[in-house]
Amino acid sequence: MSRSHPRLMTGGALLVLAGLSALSSGMAAAADAGSPQAVIEVRQASFKKMGAAMKTIVDQLKTDAPDKARMAAAALVIGSYTAEVRGWFPAGSGAEAGVDTDALPYIWEARAKFDAIADRLAPEAKTMTTVLAGDDMAAVRAQAKTLGGVCSDCHHSFRAD
Ligand code: HEC
Repeated sequence: MSRSHPRLMTGGALLVLAGLSALSSGMAAAADAGSPQAVIEVRQASFKKMGAAMKTIVDQLKTDAPDKARMAAAALVIGSYTAEVRGWFPAGSGAEAGVDTDALPYIWEARAKFDAIADRLAPEAKTMTTVLAGDDMAAVRAQAKTLGGVCSDCHHSFRAD
C-alpha cells in the first residue's frame, strides 16, 4: 500500500507546490488534494473535532457526576490527532494561500516554538487517558487544565482570534 499515508504525502506535495508557486503563482491555489485549500480544510475540520472532544471533557467536569467513559473517549479522540498537528501546517498553507485561515504567519517564522508546543499535546493527552482510568477526580480536573493549557498556549501565539 504505497498510498497508505495520504496526509503525509499531501504535506510533501504542498512543499513542492509552495516552491513552484514562486515561479508560477496561482498554481498553489488549484483545488486538488494537495492544494493549500484542501490542507486547510482538513486541519480546520480536525481541530473542530479536537475542540468538540475538549468541550465534552470540560462539560462533564461541570456536572455533579462526570461521566468518565465519555471523557475517556474524548481524550482518545484528542490523542488520535496529536501526531498529525505539525503536518497540518506545511509551508504555503497560511493566509498567503488566499484561503480563509486563522493560522498566523508567525507559525512559519517561529517554527521550532510552534512544533515544541505541538509536541506537548501527545504526552498530555496520554496522561489524560491515564488519570481517567483511575479514581482521582482532582487529578482528572488538573490534567484537563494542563491539556487545555497546551491548546491555549498555541492559540495565543499562533492563531488569530
Ligand atoms: C501547535 C499549535 C496548536 C495546538 C497545540 C492546538 N491548536 Fe487549535 N489551532 C491552531 C491553529 C493555528 C488554528 C487555526 C487553523 C486555521 O484556521 O487554519 C487552530 C484552530 C483550532 C480550532 C478552530 C477550528 C475551526 O476552523 O473552526 C479549534 C476548535 C481548535 N484549534 C481546538 C484546539 C484544541 C481543543 C486543542 C488542544 C487539545 C488545540 N486546538 C491545540 C493551533 C493549535
